[in-house]
Amino acid sequence: MTIESEMNAARSWIRECERPIVMTGAGVSAESGVPTFRDAGGLWRNHRPEELATPEAFDRDPELVWSFYSWRRSRLRHCEPNAGHFAIAEMERSHPDMWLVTQNVDGLHRRAGSSRVVELHGDIMIDRCENASDGACSFERPARVSEVVSEEGEDGPPQREPPQREPPQCEPPRCDQCGGRLRPGVVWFGEPVPAIEKCFELASAADLVLVVGTSGVVEPAASVARVARGAGAKVIDVNIEPSMLTEIADSFLRGASAEILPRLLGESPAR
Ligand code: OAD
Repeated sequence: MTIESEMNAARSWIRECERPIVMTGAGVSAESGVPTFRDAGGLWRNHRPEELATPEAFDRDPELVWSFYSWRRSRLRHCEPNAGHFAIAEMERSHPDMWLVTQNVDGLHRRAGSSRVVELHGDIMIDRCENASDGACSFERPARVSEVVSEEGEDGPPQREPPQREPPQCEPPRCDQCGGRLRPGVVWFGEPVPAIEKCFELASAADLVLVVGTSGVVEPAASVARVARGAGAKVIDVNIEPSMLTEIADSFLRGASAEILPRLLGESPAR
C-alpha cells in the first residue's frame, strides 16, 4: 500500500469514529525542539533516569535533580507548539468526545488549544511539595523558572559524572506551607500514575486510538493503546520509525508528526 492509500484508509476511520483517543509521546514535540528520551539525542541516551527521575535520586542528590529539571524548564521557554500539536487540537472540533492522553510534561498541547487533555506524567511547569505524595501537604505553585536557572544552565543537563563544570547552584526551594522541599510536578519512575484509571476507562470505550511519537516502552502508558485495541478500537501509529505499538496498529504512518498530522487530520472533513 502506498502512504497515500494508507493515509486515506486512516482518514476514513478518523472521519467515522466517535470516541477517539489521541495518545502522544515525546516525538510529537521533537519538532518544537524538546528532546525525546530514547532515540538519537534523547535524554536517556546520555543520562541515567535512575539518577535524575526517581524519588530515590531526589533524596540522594536533590541539587542534581533540581538542576536537571531547571535545565529542561529553561529549554522549554524557547519552545512553541508545532503543526502536529495544532492539528490534534483542531481534531477536537470535529470530535467533541475525543480525549488526548499525553505522556509529555511540556504543556505544548494545552498551549496549542487542546482542552480535553490528560497529562499522564504531570506538568513540568508546576512545583509541588514533596510531602504531597503521602497526603501531608497539598502545596503547589507555577514553577518560577527565572529564579532557578541562569543562562549558563542552558548549555546542557547538569552532570556529576564525568566531572564537568558544576551546574548552577540550584537547591530545591522550600514549601511555603510546611517547609518541605519543592519538586517538579511530574511522575517519576517507580511512582504511581494517578490518572491511569481514567485513561483505562477512556480506552475501554474508545473506538479509535491515534498513537503519535511514542516508543511505547513505558508502562502503564503503553497499555492505554493495548486496552483500547483489546476493546476493539482501530489503532493508527504515527512515528518516524516502528515502535513497540506498531505491532498492534492497523495502520502505520511513517514520518514526522508535524508533517503527517496536518495531512492526516487537516484533510479529514468534519463528520
Ligand atoms: P521516547 O523517547 O521513548 O520515544 C520517542 C518516540 O518518538 C520514538 O519512538 C521516536 O521514533 C519518535 N519520534 C521522534 N521524533 C519524531 C517525530 N518528529 N515525529 C514522530 N515521531 C517521532 O519518548 P516517550 O515514548 O514519550 O516518562 O517516552 C515515554 C516516557 O519515558 C516519557 O513520558 C518519560 C520517559 O522516561 C517519565 O518521565 C515518567
